[in-house]
Amino acid sequence: DAPENIRAEVMLGYKIMTETKKYAGEYVKNDLSCSSCHFDGGRSRNSISLVGVGATYPRYRSRQDYTVDIAMRTQDCFERSMNGVAPALDTQVMQSLLVYMQWISKGIPIYSKLPWALPSDLGNPHKPNVEDGAKVYANVCARCHGEEGQGTPIAPPLWGDGSYNDGAGMNRITTFSVFTWRFMPKNAPSLTQEQAIDVAGFVHEKPRPKFVSTHADKIRQIIPLPEEK
Ligand code: HEC
Ligand code: HEC
Repeated sequence: DAPENIRAEVMLGYKIMTETKKYAGEYVKNDLSCSSCHFDGGRSRNSISLVGVGATYPRYRSRQDYTVDIAMRTQDCFERSMNGVAPALDTQVMQSLLVYMQWISKGIPIYSKLPWALPSDLGNPHKPNVEDGAKVYANVCARCHGEEGQGTPIAPPLWGDGSYNDGAGMNRITTFSVFTWRFMPKNAPSLTQEQAIDVAGFVHEKPRPKFVSTHADKIRQIIPLPEEK
């Protein structure tokens, strides 16, 4: 239901999110789609939802030590979560993604706090036990994600060449365990927090692509910022 003059690009943005290799293959070097983590193109609130995200940027990010816009944030997911190459701002892929994310944020007041935003950790002091995590993996995850984490026709890989790289947010035990506890198995989450932390520790020890930085993270600051009062 987007206005006619942006509708085609909103729809293309959705397709890039859900079939990323097909529609943005030159920027992707693994077997994931954006939707592997942002289910249904980020429209599902039972995932790392992108509903409303357009209203929460530009935002301060410690990685850049500056306030960055949603395009820079999206480039990070390409380089890390997709183990790929960041599309430039003036590419069709980036512009379609931006208009799509803005569209699924319509009606949400600028700088709202989104109740469905993913917390950064479970707030549970349990330390990951890798052996227990291996059992959780074999009993619960392997049937969809594969015995060797390689993925199956049902679910994407969790480690190995087809997975996200070691610079990705999902490579943090905290992020992985929140995601898994809330959303896995897909549509029927069933783990205790301790099991989610254990399986996160187990997956974290597995091999995956290395993040190779192609540019400095920090924003180059040359103008002194105004003093705070
Ligand atoms: C392996 C999982 C994974 C994949 C694949 C992935 N992302 Fe993400 N993405 C994340 C995580 C984790 C975050 C951080 C969530 C948070 O901090 O709340 C994130 C955050 C984002 C954000 C910022 C959200 C916010 O609320 O600040 C955007 C925008 C985004 N991703 C876009 C994309 C796009 C576009 C793609 C595909 C090109 C993609 N992501 C692929 C895991 C992934
Ligand atoms: C019923 C099948 C099923 C089971 C069981 C399952 N998952 Fe998933 N998982 C999925 C699907 C499907 C996706 C991708 C979602 C999409 O494409 O819509 C996914 C995505 C993921 C992702 C993000 C994408 C990626 O590949 O990095 C992680 C992390 C994950 N699952 C972890 C787990 C863990 C850990 C377990 C075991 C506790 C588990 N899953 C059990 C179906 C499953």
